[in-house]
Amino acid sequence: MHWHAGLEHILARDVPLAEYTTFGIGGPVDYFLTPSDSGEFARAYAAALRSKLPVYVLGGGSNVLIRDNGIRGVVIRMPKASPDLSSIRGQTVIVDAGLHLGALVRATARVGLAGLEVLVGVPGTVGGALRVNAGGRYGSIGDRVSLVWLVDEMGRVMARRARDIQWGYRQTSITEPITAVEFHLEREPAAAIERRMGEILGEKRSTQPMDYPSAGCFFKNPPGRAAGRLIDESGLKGLSRGGACVSEKHANFIVNKGGATASDVLALAEEVRARVRDRFDTELEPEVRCWPQDGV
Ligand code: EPU
Repeated sequence: MHWHAGLEHILARDVPLAEYTTFGIGGPVDYFLTPSDSGEFARAYAAALRSKLPVYVLGGGSNVLIRDNGIRGVVIRMPKASPDLSSIRGQTVIVDAGLHLGALVRATARVGLAGLEVLVGVPGTVGGALRVNAGGRYGSIGDRVSLVWLVDEMGRVMARRARDIQWGYRQTSITEPITAVEFHLEREPAAAIERRMGEILGEKRSTQPMDYPSAGCFFKNPPGRAAGRLIDESGLKGLSRGGACVSEKHANFIVNKGGATASDVLALAEEVRARVRDRFDTELEPEVRCWPQDGV
């Protein structure tokens, strides 16, 4: 029996992935699975692993660079979800991992639950954000998580407590796909939370480029330093390779000015790393994940 027997209704072949990423870049994947709920996701994941092909789980596609040749393997898209306010119990909220993070941030603020407003403006899904412990100056998503539901290689869903997970700067110890998350939040008047959200969003809009497709900050900040400042002080704003360009507004953003390929982005990123290394003797590590993973 073929590994995808019984999954034909959610399977497509040779699907170009550019439109599933915020960069708008990426070649085709051999097998693209789009499950409609977490049960189907778990079954699809276990089946895909049986194929022995490389398996990738795609959330909002906001922190990933897919190579131009695409992926010889399987990409499973997280099932879409909408915020379910009936899942709020006191200060605890449980949501599906495929929920858009921005929808969760707005929904919790509206009912007077504080803690996630620091993530306003962060794109992608809840699960994707969790996987890389997304965040910014005011905190990271992991700060508010109490429980995570993960899928094992047999397709079984299991709960893991947040305190049994290691949460680092843009990384976690989670290796399994995430299907649902429980957050513990604080009570506060909605107006106060929404005011703070407006301020944080205003700061982001004034410092970060919103006018071109990108994957957010390209490099992690080295300990105690800001990658954006190092790149800026190396005089690299506006440097470009093909359609990929170091943003004039924030130097740690590589933007797609139109028609950029993954090779353009990778060549530009290498040039940036080399110039920062020469000038500051500091190695920049990419924050954006590259699929397939080898190379930068
Ligand atoms: N700076 C420059 N030139 C630039 C950009 C920045 O000199 O072109 C300087 C700024 O003046 C500031 C320092 O670098 O003194 C840090 O810049 P910023 O305040 O913009 O924050 P950041 O460290 O670059 C981090 C996260 C962002 C997050 C913001 C706001 C990383 C790699 N980046 O940026 O996250 O939105 O804080 O909270 O940790 C992302 O992860 O994709 C991302 C955009």
